[in-house]
Amino acid sequence: MLSNFFSKPKNSIAKRCRDDEVTRLRKRYNPYYHTFERQNGSRVIRDGKEYVMLCSNDYLGLSHHPKVIEAAKQGLDDWGSSTTGARLANGSRKYHTELEEKFAAFIGKEACHISVAGYISCMSSVQSFAQKGDIVLVDKNVHSSLWAGIGLTQAQVERFAHNNPADLKEVLSFEKPEAPKIVVFEGVYSMEGHIGRVPEIIEVCRDQNCFFIMDDAHGFGVMGPGGRGTAAHFGVQDEVDVITGSFSKSLSSTGGFVAGSKDIIEYLRTHSKQTIFSAAISPPQAYAASASLDILQNEPEHHKRLWENTNRYKEMLRNLGLDIWDSETPAVPIIMGQKEKAYRFWQALLEKGVFSIMSIAPAVPPGKDLIRTSMSARHTEEDLEIVAEAMAYAVKKI
Ligand SMILES: Cc1ncc(COP(=O)(O)O)c(C=O)c1O
Repeated sequence: MLSNFFSKPKNSIAKRCRDDEVTRLRKRYNPYYHTFERQNGSRVIRDGKEYVMLCSNDYLGLSHHPKVIEAAKQGLDDWGSSTTGARLANGSRKYHTELEEKFAAFIGKEACHISVAGYISCMSSVQSFAQKGDIVLVDKNVHSSLWAGIGLTQAQVERFAHNNPADLKEVLSFEKPEAPKIVVFEGVYSMEGHIGRVPEIIEVCRDQNCFFIMDDAHGFGVMGPGGRGTAAHFGVQDEVDVITGSFSKSLSSTGGFVAGSKDIIEYLRTHSKQTIFSAAISPPQAYAASASLDILQNEPEHHKRLWENTNRYKEMLRNLGLDIWDSETPAVPIIMGQKEKAYRFWQALLEKGVFSIMSIAPAVPPGKDLIRTSMSARHTEEDLEIVAEAMAYAVKKI
């Protein structure tokens, strides 16, 4: 039979894939990779049932904004579906360079390079700059994309405790002050919802020959005046050498960015494998990101509503006695502490029409198994009521 033909492992690696216990568990409990047949605003439909989407990163709720949709269509009309190649080989298009200039000016940097994904941008920002002989000092909770970049370098790697400048200082004390160092951290930590202690990190690194790389995927559009990001929030745009991140959160598109001085960005374009050998961001993606950036500047109500929703939501969770790990942002974890408890809580929310995501160790530190939730400007009054009821139900269930 054909199904037997496909399921029979042909070698030991294919067999390993078939027998992998973690994959089996994932498929058995099925908390990930759901398929929705439709989306209506902040709701998603699965098997005919509607759920409030409580774990997207559509912070400003712009993914269905008419101007964003119109812009994406315009991108297709103007340039077709793809550049079908890398910019080094096939050239940049006007919409690439225009978006880069607009984006750099908005976040307060001289130049910017955009890519097809935030993962690529974050990875390339570390891989390009760290060399053998450098020391990379990294917050141990940074995103996988930064670790992927670190994994490709021959630099010495030292971790410091999450968002802990005192520990960074301690780690630094073992190194020569003049040794070239790259400090890697985030503006907003997506699992924890913590704001990076950026000024203190910069302070403990004074006179230490440090180059700062900050991933602001979750801070851009959320933090700072008009959503200019975490560096702008603290007024340290000049001190953070590289700001990297994603268009797939507040800008409701897909794609990534690396922003810095002109020298830094030109260096990245020369040395980043991910940039040289990967196709450019597509026209509809770039047009959508550009339109979202305009909306961010011209329609401040989305930013305002995001924070109003966030404050209300957090108050609701606190009143229920839930531990939100001191989240300071619209990324709000609900700490369960054990994976079984996280699974039961996640299921209870699902039963009551709320879609969230659970994250368990080793994706989070042991004892921090959590339900990851996030607020959007698009959540309505009614959504928040459904969420409140579901949360109360889930608390009782566990
Ligand atoms: C902190 C952080 N950095 C980078 C990325 C990668 O972004 P993208 O989804 O655009 O590849 C993510 C995505 O989840 C993220 O949370």
